[in-house]
Amino acid sequence: MTDSSLPKPIRKAVFPVAGLGTRFLPATKAIPKEMLPIIDRPLIQYAVDEAREAGIEQLIFVTGRGKTAIVEHFDMAFELEATMKDRDKSLEALAPTRIQPGNLVTVRQQVPLGLGHAIWCARAIVGDEPFAIFLPDELMIGQPGCMKQMVEAYNQVGGNLISVLEVPEDEVSSYGVIAPGKRDGALTEVMGLVEKPKREEAPSNLIISGRYILQPEVMRVLEHQGKGAGGEIQLTDAMAQMIGQQPFHAVTFAGKRYDCGSKTGFVEATLAIALEREDMRDEVRAIATRLLGLG
Ligand code: UTP
Repeated sequence: MTDSSLPKPIRKAVFPVAGLGTRFLPATKAIPKEMLPIIDRPLIQYAVDEAREAGIEQLIFVTGRGKTAIVEHFDMAFELEATMKDRDKSLEALAPTRIQPGNLVTVRQQVPLGLGHAIWCARAIVGDEPFAIFLPDELMIGQPGCMKQMVEAYNQVGGNLISVLEVPEDEVSSYGVIAPGKRDGALTEVMGLVEKPKREEAPSNLIISGRYILQPEVMRVLEHQGKGAGGEIQLTDAMAQMIGQQPFHAVTFAGKRYDCGSKTGFVEATLAIALEREDMRDEVRAIATRLLGLG
């Protein structure tokens, strides 16, 4: 495929971070869930790093009340940096928090009416181009990262893409599930989508994980979207309406996904990443072995 035949590039990403994070209360009463750290990086930092690796330039945060720490995290901390410089401390750890001026935009979701509504709140900034969505509480670890894998697939097929993974059948009713069509390697045609189906009504055990590439038309569908599962405006319902109108594919992510919106998923991610990091893995392995009574 020549460059001129590639679909429109993905330059913008929406990060819906306006949820209430009730499963992590009281930790998330004053601190956004997205600022909870896995080791030494907040969840939102992992998502932003993944976006940049995929070539995304503009980051759009859909925030709500009590979420300003997320924006502060990516702002320049002048006093901190000046003090660290005076004390001859390295500023290297702050490098991932730097964002080119103008490349971070925030919009407010005034009432948490659901993920679909949060995405719709970003419509004026997304404009008329395809865009990515990241749910930062789903931590995706892969080489390359999940969004880079999706952008590579998008460059082949265009249209809309969602990241999927297989789960045991008794877990499907907590997620958005796809009705799969033809498969070609990691790409699966999407024939239908359903949010939180009953186990016996689920069309597959392939669940939507928190990464999407969508065409701007989804905003017009969301405009008229009524409430769905859980009384919320569901992104899955809006995407389901685009099937048949535009190409729609699922990409099976080659990597690991951790559901950091749940407490056990968060602990799993912390352990897994600590056991992979060269600077701490030996020590953490020794601690885990001792705690499990295996040493
Ligand atoms: P969740 O379903 O995980 O909800 O949202 P939550 O509020 O973050 O957490 P719990 O369930 O109360 O513990 C999935 C994603 O959609 C965003 C969340 O911030 C999260 O990234 N979201 C959800 C919004 O931005 N607005 C909403 O109205 C709902």
